[in-house]
Amino acid sequence: MCDGESVLLRPMTERDLGTMARWDADQELTNLMGGVVRCEDESRARFAKLLGDRNSVTMAVLTQGGLLIGDIELTEIAWRSGDAELVVRIGDPAYRGRGIGARIVSSMLTVAFEQLNLARVYLRVCADNHRAIRCYHKCGFRREGVVRRNLGPNDDARMVVLMTILRSDFIRMEAAS
Ligand SMILES: CC(C)(COP(=O)(O)OP(=O)(O)OC[C@H]1O[C@@H](n2cnc3c(N)ncnc32)[C@H](O)[C@@H]1OP(=O)(O)O)[C@@H](O)C(=O)NCCC(=O)NCCS
Repeated sequence: MCDGESVLLRPMTERDLGTMARWDADQELTNLMGGVVRCEDESRARFAKLLGDRNSVTMAVLTQGGLLIGDIELTEIAWRSGDAELVVRIGDPAYRGRGIGARIVSSMLTVAFEQLNLARVYLRVCADNHRAIRCYHKCGFRREGVVRRNLGPNDDARMVVLMTILRSDFIRMEAAS
């Protein structure tokens, strides 16, 4: 799948594991994601589970030159209700804040609504992750609510925003663009 001028999405493969494991071990990145760092074995296990999961679609994000810079997934797909969760990260910080996030999120929404025929995509984002929230707003996500959760290695209380987009919102946005 080609996405705009500068990035490509393709299904994740075994050869992406090394880079993904490096991102999983990145303290700053996992803090932005509200997660905990993983060791290589944990990354390998998560990766194998994702690749074999019929309720997830996991794509690698590459530059036109073939450099792996991120990953994006639709996961927890509930085929009956048509719900799925979106998770995205641009692992290489040099590629953040350049509009790539909005483009790949929009591409995954096209997959969700036009190919998989889903009804609703949701995501959870830490309330202090302003760049991510702005990115999701640009893509049509709307804030539904905020919850307090214990997250991260120290179980710190953090505010987590739930954002959603319905297929009808997406179709309206596409028609207007
Ligand atoms: C979240 C992420 C995917 C967004 O992708 P991106 O390519 O950086 O985002 P974009 O450049 O498309 O959009 C970012 C927007 O936020 C704005 N922004 C940047 N820093 C900001 C800040 N501190 N406060 C508010 N807005 C900010 C940018 O100006 C841009 O908006 P604009 O296009 O209207 O100017 C990417 O930054 C990332 O992977 N970050 C690390 C992991 C992460 O946080 N994942 C999300 C977990 S829920």
